Parts: sequence; C-alpha cells; structure tokens
Amino acid sequence: MSVNAEPPVFSPRAERGKARAAFPLAPLAVGGVRLPSNVVCAPLAGYTDFAFRMLCYRFGAGLCYTEMVSAKGLLYNSEATKELLRRGENEPPQTAVQLFGGEADILRAACESEALAPFPVVDLNMGCPVPKVFKNGEGSALLADLPRAEKIVSACVKSGKTVTVKFRVGIGRGNYVAAEFAKMCEGAGAAAIAVHGRTREEYYAGEPHFEQIAAAKNAVSVPVFANGGIFSVEDAAAMVQKTGADGVMLARAAMYCPHLFAEFYGAGKEWDVCAAVKEQAAAMLPAYGERRTAVHMRKMAAFYLRGMRGAGQVRRELFACETLQELENVLARFFCGNAPSAAEGVPAD
Ligand SMILES: Cc1cc2nc3c(=O)[nH]c(=O)nc-3n(C[C@H](O)[C@H](O)[C@H](O)COP(=O)(O)O)c2cc1C
Repeated sequence: MSVNAEPPVFSPRAERGKARAAFPLAPLAVGGVRLPSNVVCAPLAGYTDFAFRMLCYRFGAGLCYTEMVSAKGLLYNSEATKELLRRGENEPPQTAVQLFGGEADILRAACESEALAPFPVVDLNMGCPVPKVFKNGEGSALLADLPRAEKIVSACVKSGKTVTVKFRVGIGRGNYVAAEFAKMCEGAGAAAIAVHGRTREEYYAGEPHFEQIAAAKNAVSVPVFANGGIFSVEDAAAMVQKTGADGVMLARAAMYCPHLFAEFYGAGKEWDVCAAVKEQAAAMLPAYGERRTAVHMRKMAAFYLRGMRGAGQVRRELFACETLQELENVLARFFCGNAPSAAEGVPAD
C-alpha cells in the first residue's frame, strides 16, 4: 500500500494574486466567523465527509459543511450520526454542521450537545426534498410552515451557535417563498442564508430561479449564498451578477471536481487527480479501513475523471478495484501508462 499523504497539490495563498476578475472573490464574515472566501462547498449527503472537506479547503473553499445530520439521531447518540460529525486533523475551524429536524426543542438540544461543541456554525436544512424527510415535516416541508421554521431558527440561535439556514425557493412552481423565508430567517437571528434556486418539486433539475434568489438577497442584510446549477467560475460569476448574492455555494460541481475551488483563484483546469485521490484516501484510511475507503474512492475517482478523454473506458476498471493499490494502478495506467496491467498477466494488486 503506497497511499501516503502527498505534498499540497494546490496552495490558495500562492494563487491569490491571480484571482479572476469575473467573480468577486472576497473574504466574508458569517456572524463572528470569518471565512477566507465567499465560495463555499454545499452539504452533500454521502460525500462531504472530513476527508473530502479537507481537499476542498486545500483547493480554496471558504467554508464546508458536514453531511446532513439528524438532530434526533444525534440526541440518541447513534453511531452513524457520530461518524458524520468526525472532523479532520487540522480541519479549518469554521466547518458548519448541518442539522435537520422538525422540532425546535430537539434542534436546540442538539445545538447545545457536547457532540456539536467543535462546530461554531450550525446550518439548518430547510430544503431537503426527500419524501421520508418531507413527510416528517422536516427539510423542505418547513417552507410551508413559516411559524414552525421561525421557532426552530430562534431556538437554535438561543443556543449561542452561529446559525445559518439553507432552503429552497418554494415547494412547487408558482408558489415561491424565497423573500419571505429569507426575512423570517434574518428576523429569527440567522447569521447567513444559502438559497437553492429550485423548488422541492424540481429536485436538482433545470435552471435555478435567479429572480427568487435575488428577491431573497434584496429582503435581507445578512450574507446570502446562491446555490444551484453552478458548474464553472463563469456560472458563479453569472449567478452573482443576476442575483446580487454575496457568495456562491458549489454542490455537484465540487463533488465532481473539488479542484474547481482553485479555479476561482486563477488555477487552470488541469489538476493532479492521482495526488488528490491518494490524499483523500490517506485521510480516510485510518478511520474507515481499506475496503470501505477503496469502494468510496473508486466512485470519487470516477467523478474526478469525468470529461477527460478515455475516462468512460477507465470507469469500468475503476469499479472493479477492491483495494487502494489496484485503484492507484488503474489511475497510474490512465495518466502515465506506467503501471503493470492485468492484461499483461501481472496481477494488478
Ligand atoms: C448527492 C447529493 C447529496 C446532497 N445532500 C444534501 C444535504 O445533505 N444537505 C443539503 O442541504 N443539501 C444536500 N444536497 C443539495 C445540494 O447541497 C445543493 O443544494 C443541490 O445539489 C443544488 O446545487 P447544484 O445544482 O450546484 O448541485 C445534496 C445534493 C446531492 C446531489
């Protein structure tokens, strides 16, 4: 196994002078928490674990969120929940924990729990469209119940945490609540909001409703992160131009290519996928073991190779990998053609 921590693949500080003019890259304060940049990585269930967040931070993300965490699960001390709260060694302090739930007292108790002590920022999920969550009156269901949503935000603010809210622009088309909901969040004490410009019914498809994000931005004075459909620096610049948002939140784009954060600082599109995969795997390995790390990283590697010439073919090889060494060999063959190939009769592990 030769998965060792690699030297940094990118240094935001070194690249800062080359920031692109098109996107207004700048530090941003969320309550008392200072973010080094206004380009942040969204919460992504199944992906934004500590190892992935470390990569995003190193490429220049201003803030990362945990995967969404059930407030009830946290209070029941569930093992799965504890795992979601794992932080990386030397992880920047600002990482926000995202909670979901529907009851103000439970969410407040979660904010005050010992488990959340390492997280200064608590983000409240008021946008999750998944039926199981929605039917429980949680996530995007709160868009249709402003009084309950307000109770939740103000209860969590009373815990002393810096509270932010991530929400969608409405439940369905023609029934937009973005401005009203933004105002409610600010009034209840939220320090920032992130607005996903799609409705619950739209899930992740289609153009975001830019005018709804703009309406939310115009309704409040706390920082607003615009989210939805941003897949390039140019998309981010257009999003800010159309909405007036203070920052942007990358979601699927970061999952497919965490190096996109570096592009905001002027880095080119080329990046060292092998080094990044090794680094992420090295961070995961002690926590999750070989098999789980390999299975997760073959999926991530397939994402990271998207759009590269020949990537389609190598995906099949990636998904056959059972160990990190096999994964490393496939990547080395893809990029340099210099690793032993199974076809040559040499075992790939
Ligand atoms: C795989 C996946 C997992 C997600 N998990 C969460 C989550 O845990 N919490 C949350 O608020 N949003 C979650 N989202 C929504 C994203 O944060 C984001 O709002 C959405 O993908 C829109 O942004 P995009 O168009 O740039 O991808 C998830 C989205 C995807 C695709």
